[in-house]
Amino acid sequence: MTLSDLPTPALILDVAKLRRNVRRMADAVRRNGVALRPHMKTAKSIDVARIALAGQAGGIAMSTLREAEYFAGHGIRDIQYAVSIVPDKLARVAQIQKTGARITLITDNVGVARAIAAKGAELGATFHVLIEVDCSEGRSGVLPGSEDVLTIGRILHDSPNTELAGIMTHAGHSYRCRGLAEVEAMAETERAAAVAAANRLRAAGLPCGTVSVGSTPTALYARSLTGVTEARPGVYMFGDMFQAQIDSCSVGDLAVSVLAAVTSHRREFDRLLVDAGALALSKDRSTEFVANDIGFGLVTDIDGKPFQPQLAVARVYQEHGQVQGGTGVPFDAMPVGSRVRILPNHVCMTAAMYDRYHVVDSESGDARKVIAEWTRANGW
Ligand SMILES: Cc1ncc(COP(=O)(O)O)c(C=O)c1O
Repeated sequence: MTLSDLPTPALILDVAKLRRNVRRMADAVRRNGVALRPHMKTAKSIDVARIALAGQAGGIAMSTLREAEYFAGHGIRDIQYAVSIVPDKLARVAQIQKTGARITLITDNVGVARAIAAKGAELGATFHVLIEVDCSEGRSGVLPGSEDVLTIGRILHDSPNTELAGIMTHAGHSYRCRGLAEVEAMAETERAAAVAAANRLRAAGLPCGTVSVGSTPTALYARSLTGVTEARPGVYMFGDMFQAQIDSCSVGDLAVSVLAAVTSHRREFDRLLVDAGALALSKDRSTEFVANDIGFGLVTDIDGKPFQPQLAVARVYQEHGQVQGGTGVPFDAMPVGSRVRILPNHVCMTAAMYDRYHVVDSESGDARKVIAEWTRANGW
């Protein structure tokens, strides 16, 4: 099977680029002397996790219990569920732990901490819990200086069925940084918030083994992670057009693309259509906020080379993607039925539309040959 034979649309993963991206992040995190805990929310694949974990002793992070079941089922033993837990999910967590995996939960809520302790007693389970602090993104988390840090810490430490595992935070607002200096400053804000909360726990006589931080930009560019024990980036494995524009990677590093077929020419409007619309690309528009807005994806030829001048999917319908460029579409190079690849705006959202990757290796003798199919654990 080659890229010319696959049914379209299809999700393509270039394993050579994946390996390079993984090495780059592993080197960056190692330089700062902390463990790398790859966040598998983007890749949702055991094959990708094995590459991301190569040479690392640590575990993974993930964002759904479906992923936890899947990765535990594939033998991963150290799993951080990096989305606030709610009590209704605890029975399922206990069930996964019975298979031998240790699931670390997160909470930013005093009532939930009490409910975890109660549910642990009811189920005869031990739950390991990190306190989430807000390092100024304003999403989830308690403020590092708040009384809640200590209240949650005491509840978790005092209950026989819970372990206070430490502190975690996530600088998701690093995506708003522009330029290295801003990302470095954000990484320091993230580090300082986590370490401040950890120090408050310790000063109160409470344990704090784990201090977990990380987004792709801050993990790559942090100048110091003193006091931190692990970094938890995820999207770096693949990269996307948004990450390329905030300098987390370059367009040439993007490991995931959507293979699509040209379905119509509309020469009178200087546009063409492909069979990759909203359901194949997602409707994420994150590049709207960076210098080069590529709509719903950047169009390349079948070998991944962007057209010059640039072509983008400017509009999506359910199954139609409308391609246009500022200075004219090269219709003769793109006959109806020919194939293109589309580099996604936000790869986490695009990949979630597919149940598998078709794997190619751009460093092999035949970069169009599909060498494997890797499944994904979608859903919740
Ligand atoms: C809690 C948490 N940790 C880590 C990450 C990974 O960040 P990134 O995708 O920038 O690598 C995310 C991403 O959403 C997250 O929500």
